[in-house]
Amino acid sequence: MAIRVNGTEVTSPEDARISLLDLLRERLHLTGTKVGCNQGACGACTVLLDGERVLSCLTLAVQADGREVTTIEGLADGEGLHPLQSAFIAHDGFQCGYCTPGQICAASAMLREVAAGVPSYVTADLAEMPIALSREEIRERMSGNLCRCGAHNGIVEAILQVAREQAA
Ligand code: FES
Ligand code: FES
Repeated sequence: MAIRVNGTEVTSPEDARISLLDLLRERLHLTGTKVGCNQGACGACTVLLDGERVLSCLTLAVQADGREVTTIEGLADGEGLHPLQSAFIAHDGFQCGYCTPGQICAASAMLREVAAGVPSYVTADLAEMPIALSREEIRERMSGNLCRCGAHNGIVEAILQVAREQAA
């Protein structure tokens, strides 16, 4: 089987123990995806698998067989920045930038989850459509992505801006 990574087919590793994170970074040299805790606690390794966010450190590469993986390198449309990338710059949504690829991949999937009506722990009205994306909602939905630089306020504002642009 093959895995599509950012639109290109790559061969699935023979060793079933290799994580998707190691496939991306060590074999494909797509180092935009970061290694943080390597145990599912920080979100730095977040990528998209068929459009849904996954922690690549906890995902075996073979689980992506026949599926589409999108990393931060594949999120932008050619040379142009993804709207979330532009918004993170505009709102100082990063300092060292280490968590940023994971934050942006997670945010892009999170916005689709909201648009699809998937509630979160803090959604007050489960029947409400569309879900009002408050700052509290964004913080809860992005709580799996940690920023040790403390850029969370800027991250929330950046995501809120893109959500409002998409709703306009
Ligand atoms: Fe995967 Fe931290 S490196 S969650
Ligand atoms: Fe440094 Fe988030 S910008 S960890």
